[in-house]
Amino acid sequence: MKHTTQLIVALDVDNLKEAKRLVDLLYPAVKIFKVGSQLFTACGAEAVKMINKKNAKVFLDLKYHDIPNTVKNAVSSAVELGVFMLDVHTQGAEEMLKAAVRSATDKAQELNIKKPLIIGITVLTSVNNSQITEDNVLEAAILAKNSGLDGVVCSVYEAPRVRKELGQDFLIVTPGIRPQGHASDDQARIATAKDAVEAGADFIVVGRPIVKAKDPLSVAKEISEAIT
Ligand code: C5P
Repeated sequence: MKHTTQLIVALDVDNLKEAKRLVDLLYPAVKIFKVGSQLFTACGAEAVKMINKKNAKVFLDLKYHDIPNTVKNAVSSAVELGVFMLDVHTQGAEEMLKAAVRSATDKAQELNIKKPLIIGITVLTSVNNSQITEDNVLEAAILAKNSGLDGVVCSVYEAPRVRKELGQDFLIVTPGIRPQGHASDDQARIATAKDAVEAGADFIVVGRPIVKAKDPLSVAKEISEAIT
C-alpha cells in the first residue's frame, strides 16, 4: 500500500528570531516543524507558540526518558502547549511509555483537544551497526506498539521491516534524509527522500539540508516534490 509522506523541517537553530525567519519563509510549503533540544533549551515554549500562531504544526522532539511520573507530567505540559507530535525514548521501557500515552490521552480529553501523536525513539540514525541495529529497532518498535504509541522514529533502512511487522497504521518517522550528493554530516544511516517514501515512511525529518541551505524554500520544495 502506498503511504502519503509528509515533510517535517527540523528547526535546529539557537534563537527565536532565526526560527521565525525560517517558519515565515517555509510555511505553507512546509506545514510541520520540529522543535528539538537546541531550540527548546534556547527559547522554550515560545518556539512552539510561534509555530502554532502561524497555524503550522509542531513535532516536539525532546525524547523524554525519565521515571514514569516525570514523563507523565512532561507529556501533560506538552499537550497543554498544543503540539501535534512528541517523542519519548523506548529505552524508558513499558511503564514509562504507557504513562506517556495515558497522560496525553487524559490531558487531551480534559482540554477537549486532539491527542498528540506519541512517537518512540528506537535507535538514533547517527548509529550504524547493520544487523544489530535492525533487530534492536524492531524490538523497540514492538515495545512501542504494545505500549500504545502511535509510531516510531527509525532510519529508512529499517522502515520496510517495521512496516511489514507492525502494520499499515503504525507511523514511521525517518530522519537522516539527504538529497543526492549532500554531505551526511553526523548521520550514519542516510537515504534520499524518495527512498523514504519507497520504504513506507509517513513523515521524513530534514534539518541541515534545508536549514543551512542558501535557499531553504527551494530545497524544501524540491524535497516535497520528491515525496508527492
Ligand atoms: O540535520 P539533520 O537532517 O540531520 O537533522 C535531523 C534531525 O532529526 C535532528 O534534529 C535530529 O535531532 C533528529 N533526529 C535524528 N534521529 C533520530 C531522532 C531525531 O536525527 N532518531
